[in-house]
Amino acid sequence: MDCSGLSVFPTFGLQIMKYGKEINRRKTFAIISHPDAGKTTLTEKFLLFGGAIQVAGAVKSNKIKKYATSDFMEIERQRGISVATSVMTFEYKDTLINLLDTPGHKDFAEDTYRTLTAVDSVVLVIDSVNGVEEQTRRLMEVCRMRDTPVIVFVNKMDRDGKNRFDILEEIEKELKIQLHPMTWPINSGKDFKGVYNLHDKSLLLFTANTKAMDEDSVEIENLNDSLLDTKIGDKDAAQLREDVELIDGVYGELKTQDYLEGKVAPVFFGSAINNFGVKELLNVFIRIAPIPRSRETNVRSVDVEEDRFSGFIFKIHANLDPKHRDRIAFLRVCSGRFERNKYYHHVRLDKDVRFSNPYSFLARSKDVIDDAYAGDVVGLFDTGSFKIGDTLTEGEDFYFTGIPSFSPEIFKELVNKDPMKTKQLEKGISQLTDEGVAQLFTQFGGNKKIIGCVGELQFEVIQYRLLHEYAASCEFRTLPFYKACWLTSKNPDKLEDFLRFKQQYSAEDKDGHPVYLAQSEWFLNTERQNNPDIEFHFTSEIHK
Ligand code: G4P
Repeated sequence: MDCSGLSVFPTFGLQIMKYGKEINRRKTFAIISHPDAGKTTLTEKFLLFGGAIQVAGAVKSNKIKKYATSDFMEIERQRGISVATSVMTFEYKDTLINLLDTPGHKDFAEDTYRTLTAVDSVVLVIDSVNGVEEQTRRLMEVCRMRDTPVIVFVNKMDRDGKNRFDILEEIEKELKIQLHPMTWPINSGKDFKGVYNLHDKSLLLFTANTKAMDEDSVEIENLNDSLLDTKIGDKDAAQLREDVELIDGVYGELKTQDYLEGKVAPVFFGSAINNFGVKELLNVFIRIAPIPRSRETNVRSVDVEEDRFSGFIFKIHANLDPKHRDRIAFLRVCSGRFERNKYYHHVRLDKDVRFSNPYSFLARSKDVIDDAYAGDVVGLFDTGSFKIGDTLTEGEDFYFTGIPSFSPEIFKELVNKDPMKTKQLEKGISQLTDEGVAQLFTQFGGNKKIIGCVGELQFEVIQYRLLHEYAASCEFRTLPFYKACWLTSKNPDKLEDFLRFKQQYSAEDKDGHPVYLAQSEWFLNTERQNNPDIEFHFTSEIHK
C-alpha cells in the first residue's frame, strides 16, 4: 500500500458526504445497569421489536451473574456464547441499531467501561425498587467523563417501588444529572395502571403478563377528558392531573440538544418483563439518540463524514476453549468505509494489515461482511497483534483518545512458580494485559510485578490462561493496596522525590507512567495534602 504523502490529511472536497446516508441511519448504543435491574430483559424486548429474535428467552443464555465468583470456568462457558451477543445489530423503522452488550458480572466491569468508549449513547436501566445502586453510580461516572447522552428507563414498575417523585430525586442527586420525565407512572406494584405519555399526551394502560407488543394505548384529548376517569378511576385520574401539572411546570419541553450534550437525561417508566413502556422508549430513542459523531485523536479531530476509514479496538475477546484458541478484536468504525481484504495501517505496529473474514453481528449470529461504516462494530480475527486502544487508519498516524484505564480495586503480586518458564510468564502476562484482562504495574526498584483487577475472578482467569496458553505457572500474593493513582506534576523534581521516598508504594504502568499505590483512603488523602505539586488521577488515558 502506498502510504506516501498521508501525513498531511487530504482536503475533503465534494466527498465529504459520501457516506452521509449510511451514517445518518445508524445508532450505536449500550444498555447498562446494576446487575438484576433488567438489562437483559430490556435488550430482549428491543430485539423482539427489531424482529431480530422471535421468542422471549433467547437472550437469557448470556446471563452469567448467577454464579459464585469462584466458578469462573462456568462463567466462561457461558461467556463463550456472548461473542455473538457482544454486538447485536438490528433494524427498527429504517434505523440500523448497533446494540453493544456489556457484561453483567461486576468482575468484568472494566470491559463494560471500555465498551462505553465505543457507543454514542446509553440507556440506563434502574430498578424502581432498589433505586440507584453501586454499579449504576460508577457507570454513570464513565458516561459523564465523555458527556455520553443517557436515557433512563425506570424498570419493574409492576413491583412496589419507591415513590415516583422520590426516585427522580434520588437519580438526580446520586447520579448528578438533570432528568426530564417523558412518561409518568400511575401508581406502582399491584396498583400500577400504566403511564401517561407527557410528550404526545396519550395514556398507556398496563395489563400484567400480556404478550409482547400487546400494548394498550388510549388517546385522550387532554387530561380533563372524562375518558381518563373511566379508564383509571377518579382518584388516580385526579392524582395524575395534579402530578402532570407539577411536572409540566418544572420541566417543560425536552430540549434535545441538552440531551445530546449529556446535560439532561429523558426518563421513561415501565416494566421490561411485561414489555410495557418499551416501545415508547425505543420510538423516542430512534428519534433523538445521536448518530455517530466526530471523534478526537492525539493529532486532530476526525470528522465522522470523512471518506477515509479509521477505527479503534475497544475490546478483545479470547476463546478459552483449547481447541479454538482464537481471539476476536472488536473494532469500532469511526469514519469512512471499512472493506474486507483491504490493507489498513496498524498505527502502533506501523504495519499494514488486512482482514479476509471480518464479522458483523446480526442479532445472534456472526456473518462475514464486506464493508462497514461509522458506528458499526466489526469483529476481527486476531492472533495477538492487537491491544486495547489500537487504531487502524488508511495511512495516517494518530490514535483515538478517550479510552481510559480505571484504577483497579484488587492488587496482587505475581509470583513465578517455575523459574524455567520465566519468559513464557512474561510474554503471557504482557499479552493478557494487552487484552485488558488486568493491569500490570512494575514496582520501582524492586521490579515486583503487580497485577491489578476489578474483581477476584480475573485472577483465576489469569492463572488458568497462563498455564493453559503459555505453560507458565504462577501464584498470587495479596497486597494491601486499595487504589492506583496515576501521577503527574508540573514540577518533575517533586515527582521524582515523591517516587523515591515512596518507593514501596510506587510503580510504573505498562506504558511507563508513574503510579502511586495507596493503602487506604486515609493514606491517599494524606499524600495529596502533603504533595500539592503532584496531581493524583484515578484514570489514565491509553493515548493522550
Ligand atoms: P440484568 O440483565 O440487569 O441482570 O437483569 P435481568 O434482565 O436478567 O432481570 C433480572 C430479574 O428481574 C429477572 O428475574 C427478570 O425476570 C426480572 N425483571 C426484569 N424486568 C422486570 C420487570 O419489569 N418486573 C419484574 N417484576 N421483574 C423484572 P429472575 O427471577 O432473576 O430471572 P428469571 O428467572 O426471570 O430469568
